[in-house]
Amino acid sequence: MDTGVTTENGLIGEFVREFVGVVPTELLASINAAIEAARHEWQPPDGRRASATARQFADALRLHDAFSAMEAQVCAAARLWVGQTLAREATDAPVHVLRCVGPHMAAQSYLRHFDSHVLTVLIPLQRAPDGEQNGDLIVHVRRNEPLAPLMHLFSKTWLFFEHGLPFGLRRAIVNSGFGMRHCRRIRCEPGNAYVFNGFVTLHHNLHVADGERRSLIIHHYDAGLEARLRTMVRAVRHFRDRLAGYS
Ligand SMILES: [Fe+2]
Repeated sequence: MDTGVTTENGLIGEFVREFVGVVPTELLASINAAIEAARHEWQPPDGRRASATARQFADALRLHDAFSAMEAQVCAAARLWVGQTLAREATDAPVHVLRCVGPHMAAQSYLRHFDSHVLTVLIPLQRAPDGEQNGDLIVHVRRNEPLAPLMHLFSKTWLFFEHGLPFGLRRAIVNSGFGMRHCRRIRCEPGNAYVFNGFVTLHHNLHVADGERRSLIIHHYDAGLEARLRTMVRAVRHFRDRLAGYS
């Protein structure tokens, strides 16, 4: 498996772009301190924390020039991509997610998926200790075709099934030769931001065997494919009913 991050200055969509040093060290420390302070208040089984808290952290980051400039740059590229590829205007508000994953959350690892949003900004807050199972992000070379809703539906159906498998079996499938030959393992360093098009890029995280992986994730611009699929299903139903003489 290859490792590393592409550094080309292309349009968003080419794997992962790394923006080094856009998160100030002091802010990183204060966010981690706030997470520690709230540790015993809420421990959701999937490690996902309240979006309002995640939003507060993201807003604190946006007060810093390097981060806000980076976000403005990648959002502009993503809006262009949405306009050119999906032929619509990207205006929806971002979704903020805070995730803290430890060794007892095996259900959160090896979940290969595509995001429903076009732009994913991943801000690592804390790495788990180095090792084979340290929760690193794995990005698959395999791409989703943005304008092929049926293929998307088949992929989602298979991945939904895969997510329901027991941890060992799921890990075995994901790690099986073909899948992992076409992957990049991304070492996400706190202080940096990692940006990719999660709508077309299959990705998952490794298991966390020790410590805790903390990430703030900002999703921008819902691709709207689920809505298009619903419209398609309605059209098929309508056509079927007409054939049956119901309308
Ligand atoms: Fe994702």
